[in-house]
Amino acid sequence: MTDSLTVRDNRTGQEYDVPITDGTIKAADLGAIKEGDDQPGLAVYDPGFVNTASCRSAVTFIDGEEGILEYRGYPIEQLAEKSNFLEVAYLLIHGSLPTKAEYESWVHEITYHTFVHENVKSFMEGFRYDAHPMGMLMASVGALSTFYPDARHIDDDEIRRLQIVRMIAKMPTLGAWAFRHAQGKPYIYPDNELGYTANFLSMLFKMSEQRFEADERLVRALDVLFILHADHEQNCSTNAVRGVGSSQVDPYSAVAAGVAALYGPLHGGANEAVLRMLRRIETVENVPGFLEGVKNREERLMGFGHRVYKNYDPRARIIEQHMDEVFEATEYNPLVEIARELAKRALDDEYFTSRKLYPNVDYYSGIIYEALQIPTEMFTVIFAIPRTSGWVAQWMELNDDPEQKIARPRQIYTGERDRDFIPIEEREGPEKIVGPPARRPKRQRRGA
Ligand code: CMC
Repeated sequence: MTDSLTVRDNRTGQEYDVPITDGTIKAADLGAIKEGDDQPGLAVYDPGFVNTASCRSAVTFIDGEEGILEYRGYPIEQLAEKSNFLEVAYLLIHGSLPTKAEYESWVHEITYHTFVHENVKSFMEGFRYDAHPMGMLMASVGALSTFYPDARHIDDDEIRRLQIVRMIAKMPTLGAWAFRHAQGKPYIYPDNELGYTANFLSMLFKMSEQRFEADERLVRALDVLFILHADHEQNCSTNAVRGVGSSQVDPYSAVAAGVAALYGPLHGGANEAVLRMLRRIETVENVPGFLEGVKNREERLMGFGHRVYKNYDPRARIIEQHMDEVFEATEYNPLVEIARELAKRALDDEYFTSRKLYPNVDYYSGIIYEALQIPTEMFTVIFAIPRTSGWVAQWMELNDDPEQKIARPRQIYTGERDRDFIPIEEREGPEKIVGPPARRPKRQRRGA
């Protein structure tokens, strides 16, 4: 017996059998359900894609109910403990872990593509002194497409591979330079003797010393954070990369769209909001009062809840395990105690447990970044750097998938129809309003 869904259209009394494959029905199959031959077929209305699969993917598996995250079938816990970011990036892009020789050649290639064209530097210098580093990253990664015009040959395996290596290699350089720009400090060139994460820290913090040598514990903590952020299946920014990539544009432009999506506070910006929240709470004693405010819907508990995870986000657990190690190597951050007390009470409270609200990846990450002396406006940049490996893995999958088409959703049109143009002298309306237009009421913002 084939799995199928029998649908009865009560408008016409007609029944349809819609095949079920992999727990989904094809939205296109619903198009056959029509009120009349000249009528449009049934479509699915799904703002925010809350229950629509946009692709088949073999990159990342998430079971939100159980709190499971796997890259190419490997549990995130094992990768965070035993692997390193560049190996994980290889895994995401190639589908399997590298052999020793493959790994060495991959690391060598990435390391030797960390430099950017000198014109990129002057391009970045043109930004205002207070430019947000995420805006600079978005613009500069998009600008790379003009430095590598060959990148538009997206069907050429070798050209495609080279752009992927370039992008993973150059994102830390662009991100670090965006940071240095805001600080008014000279841009630091990559140090190819250092590993990926250590080199990034060097480009962020090096001053006059010969070599910037970060504490190994901090290098490892950042590397683990990079692993945890490398991919997360069809989230908002990955969807943006795939949506823009579906027009067959070059990968730099598609990744710039991903950076833009990540810039938004409901996606990459939540850890910054967590820190603001913890500072506002001020002391452990104020935690119960704050939670009452959340339960009275005066505000949200930032860093809690997730569109997909209805259990502890496994990434939050791993980050929490690294916190003590980080604080051994840095100054103690008293916000940790507030965060732990807040989490403990929320996890014990019916309001949160009944809604399956648990800490997500952003709950603790900001506290660690702050301990690494990374300012808040850089948090999203630090998310974008490792996520680039996931974006390009998903972009490649999109391009190799014969079922994919240019992304072009339907709409339910709610506007006027059949109006006749009226010359301006004949138009009637309210008296001319001088000044800015009235503000529209604020939309309730939801998302994940
Ligand atoms: N604090 C208090 N109540 C919450 C929270 C929260 N953080 N999150 C959800 N709820 C409540 C919400 O009010 C609703 O209750 P009710 O059914 O009584 O109206 C219920 O839980 C379901 O919430 P939702 O808004 O429908 O859930 P969603 O899937 O649309 O939103 C979310 C997911 C992540 C946007 C939301 O949980 C949230 O705003 N969390 C805080 C922001 C945050 O930490 N974002 C980082 C996400 S992880 C990083 C990433 O992967 O990009």
